[in-house]
Amino acid sequence: MRMTAILSRMNDLPIGVFDSGLGGLTVAGEIMRTLPHESVIYVGDTARCPYGPRPQLEVREFVLQIGAWLAQRHVKMLVVACNTGTAAGLAAAQRTFDIPVIGVVEPGARAAVKSTRNRKVGVIATVGTVQSGAYSDAVRALDAGVTVFSVATPKFVEIVEQGLHMGPGSLEDVFADSSDVFVRPSFYEIARDYLDPLKRTGIDTLVLGCTHFPLLAPAIKQVMGSKVRIISSAEETACDVAATLKTRRTLAPASNVARHRFMTTGDAEEFARLGSRVLTSKISVAHHLDLSELETMEIPPMHGDKAGTDGTEGTTCS
Ligand code: DGL
Repeated sequence: MRMTAILSRMNDLPIGVFDSGLGGLTVAGEIMRTLPHESVIYVGDTARCPYGPRPQLEVREFVLQIGAWLAQRHVKMLVVACNTGTAAGLAAAQRTFDIPVIGVVEPGARAAVKSTRNRKVGVIATVGTVQSGAYSDAVRALDAGVTVFSVATPKFVEIVEQGLHMGPGSLEDVFADSSDVFVRPSFYEIARDYLDPLKRTGIDTLVLGCTHFPLLAPAIKQVMGSKVRIISSAEETACDVAATLKTRRTLAPASNVARHRFMTTGDAEEFARLGSRVLTSKISVAHHLDLSELETMEIPPMHGDKAGTDGTEGTTCS
């Protein structure tokens, strides 16, 4: 087969994107909008969600299992669209797989460093992400003069999950100010408990360090006030995916018709229904991926250190 034919086949391969559940669809959606010719295989590990309270080693194992499953399907790159998964397993995944692997922490940290003027940045995330120190490390690697204030906000994950399971209607309606999701269990009280101490630190930038949180962005913004800029890593991550594919000359050609495939370790019908709301475009069908298939995946041996932490080889988006 001629070299150009092999290369173009490589370029047509999908991108593997995964999360503990539905939240990573906020990142997948941004990738699909930024790169409309790229196909995506998305895995939502709904059956084992939440990852946030689990030990790092367990989450790392999950990341490697899903990465191996996707690598076996010949994805051309992997995106760990979960902050908890990135904090626990990105480095291990980069050492394990021979394709580029990027996470969401470094892009979020970079966006925050670009945004802050007073060099005080807040991060809200799961317990696992906060305890890992991943955001502080990533921000400090970019600008050691920035102070990071991190707060674990696990109840926000529950509120998003609860909101997603609420009746029909658009997500804007579900997460609107007047919605029941904010009355039960009193979102604003919980939010103030979490966010008031952060406000008192004088941060001018707040990173939504969990892929579930962009769905709560308007409400969080309301509590934080108009002077604090809210950062979600989805756009910056999509930008990193584009830069990585471009650098490696593996972007899909404009003639490629993107085909997306959605897998869940939970209920496929429910995933398609709820996922369509997060993605803001219809998921006509999702497929069930049995946990036993992931748990018996053979994980390739890890190899030596790779430069950088995000696999992007230093590429940045303006
Ligand atoms: N989506 C996960 C993250 O970005 C949070 C949800 C979970 O705890 O699994 O950290």
